[in-house]
Amino acid sequence: MTGAASLSGLRIVVSAGPTFEDIDPVRFIGNRSSGKMGFAIAAAAARRGGEATLVAGPVALETPIGVERIDVRSAAQMHAAVLALLPCDLYIGAAAVADFTPQQFASSKIKKRAGETGLTLELVRTRDILADIATHARRPRMVVGFAAETDTVESYARAKLADKHLDLIAANRVGVEGAGFESDHNALTLYWRQDGRDCARALGPAPKQQLAEALLDVILERMTA
Ligand code: PMT
Repeated sequence: MTGAASLSGLRIVVSAGPTFEDIDPVRFIGNRSSGKMGFAIAAAAARRGGEATLVAGPVALETPIGVERIDVRSAAQMHAAVLALLPCDLYIGAAAVADFTPQQFASSKIKKRAGETGLTLELVRTRDILADIATHARRPRMVVGFAAETDTVESYARAKLADKHLDLIAANRVGVEGAGFESDHNALTLYWRQDGRDCARALGPAPKQQLAEALLDVILERMTA
């Protein structure tokens, strides 16, 4: 892209898409995510000369030109794949990682029984990839998270920024038409702290490709500040 700041010489890792947590051979728990936002970011990073690697959950998208892609299914696989890519200069967590996974995988299909009115599943928390990256001994220079919220967007996003030790968080509203999950468009509000002050910048609404470029502009500004 002409005029866009270069990412040449930088290793960028982007996560995208959902994770699927298998219950049995035919059923899983997953989040709603097409991968479009994360793929757009990886594509933009590669166009700017960055060495971009995409760790993708199960999605039906073409690999962007110039991007190395690693496909995973579960949160545990995504965690292992992302951590194996350290060290890198920049990590952007755009994936909708499942927060919970079944405690046990049933190796045979769970059958319905006559008279049964429900099924109780025991779920356990998945490991937080973003928080583990941000506190890792080989922490990237810049760690960027996303926050998908239905309401109270700013306070939830700022809490994630602090709790997960991030440099910047991109919040988007989900559960609305024409933005967030699955849509080709989105609107982001970026939150970060600078010199003890809360900072914010709104991007969009715009196509996800355009937002990816604008997000990288702000990230590069922050990396060179
Ligand atoms: O894929 P699309 O259809 O284009 O939709 C884009 C999107 C809405 C999925 C994307 O813009 C987005 O918001 N991604 C983050 C979704 C999410 O899971 O948000 P969260 O608020 O639950 O998680 C906060 C952050 O922690 C995220 O960066 C997430 O990747 C990370 N996380 C969460 C749980 C976990 N176990 N490990 C993590 O790294």
